[in-house]
Amino acid sequence: MPSLNLAIIGTGHVGLVTGTCFAEKGHRVICVDSDTSKIETLRQGGMPIYEPGLEELVRRNVAAGRLSFSTEIAPAVRVSEIIFICVGTPPTPTGQPDLSFVEAVSREIARNLDDSYRLIVEKSTVPVRTGEHVRRTLEKYAAKGVAFDVASNPEFLSEGTAVRDTLTPDRIVIGASSKRAEEKLRSLFETFNSPIIVTDINSAELIKHASNSFLAMKVSFINAVAAICEECGANVEEVARGMGMDKRIGRAFLRAGAGYGGFCFPKDVEAFVAVAESLGYQFDLLRQVQEVNVAQRERIVRKIDKELWVCKDKTVGLLGLSFKPDTDDVRESPALFIASTLIGKGARVRAYDPKAIDKARKAMPELTCCADAYEAAKGADCVVLMTEWEEFRRLDLDRLRTVMAHPTLIDCRNVFEPASVRALGFTYRSVGRP
Ligand code: UDX
Repeated sequence: MPSLNLAIIGTGHVGLVTGTCFAEKGHRVICVDSDTSKIETLRQGGMPIYEPGLEELVRRNVAAGRLSFSTEIAPAVRVSEIIFICVGTPPTPTGQPDLSFVEAVSREIARNLDDSYRLIVEKSTVPVRTGEHVRRTLEKYAAKGVAFDVASNPEFLSEGTAVRDTLTPDRIVIGASSKRAEEKLRSLFETFNSPIIVTDINSAELIKHASNSFLAMKVSFINAVAAICEECGANVEEVARGMGMDKRIGRAFLRAGAGYGGFCFPKDVEAFVAVAESLGYQFDLLRQVQEVNVAQRERIVRKIDKELWVCKDKTVGLLGLSFKPDTDDVRESPALFIASTLIGKGARVRAYDPKAIDKARKAMPELTCCADAYEAAKGADCVVLMTEWEEFRRLDLDRLRTVMAHPTLIDCRNVFEPASVRALGFTYRSVGRP
């Protein structure tokens, strides 16, 4: 297998996991980021994010000399055959992603190209046609006659399972405009045991936005069905099971809950709507997906209101702050929305999360953070479970009840079995289940 020299520009969740996994596959990787403190942390063996399995992989590949970290693009570009652009594409007020980091990095790469061929690959989630802009930028700022190609290789890693998703993806998408670029990426992925699909660059870019938006649509769909279940006494879990057994629908992403959050779905759905609009198409279907998602959070607030009648001066124990389990990411987390709404209504919120306390505290200093679930439930008029961490499934509910002022449990992720929780003396409400 050829061992390639790779530069990863942007060492966020995607860049760090991607670079580390390529190193694990035997390639030599330099991960670059302009954030000096992040690079320093990594150089000293620390981790800027929590991602199961990643720390061990980073340590092993650094020790083997295959993975290193730098704040400088120029030397990394000079020694690399393939350069991945993994910088952030944060949302702007119009919904269109901010591509200024992609553009700035493209310019910097261009200035450091020499006469040996380079492949520049966009991995950040970008609007369709970004590849064309990257190519034009490279042509504009590179010395005349340098040989390069631009390609798209979108990532599909989920936080919490990012290492596995990267090492064994469902598919590898290569968007390429030349045979040479395609072959180069094929050789990079030679030892990956996953199907490869080769498309033009625009299609590859669209695959990413369309995939994430479709998954978000599944989540909103099942949450809408859950709302109907609540009105008619049906059970959304049974409905989802029955739907999911149809192979054309599939079981995945049909868990009703608190709505989708995180850095990707909200941003990508918004971006896809804006990109479509800029191309003359009104993607109203996705607007509805967003509205259902917001409504789902509001339904949770109404459920809490209904149990507490008046929130002011009540104590609410909040279990889970990250937008989903196995990550410390609280960006666009439904839990933070619920916490701030309750605090706004005058409630005291006592929160606990196995990993996300530090990030949540930074995002919302007014939160009372607790050392464990029982501490969070202490004196509570109501406990609201917001994230389905494994540790919550094993809670001693008897103990939880005894520390609470009033035993009301609102399970926004359908973690518990209603009958058994009620048998313990709780008033129990979940999502889309009687
Ligand atoms: C997502 C995509 O899955 C991944 O391919 C892409 O690269 C990045 O965006 P991630 O944001 O890590 O990954 O989370 P994901 O596991 O997809 O969940 C997104 C949100 O949907 C979470 O808030 C989760 O709680 C919610 N969700 C997911 C549900 O509410 N129900 C489901 O059935 C599945």
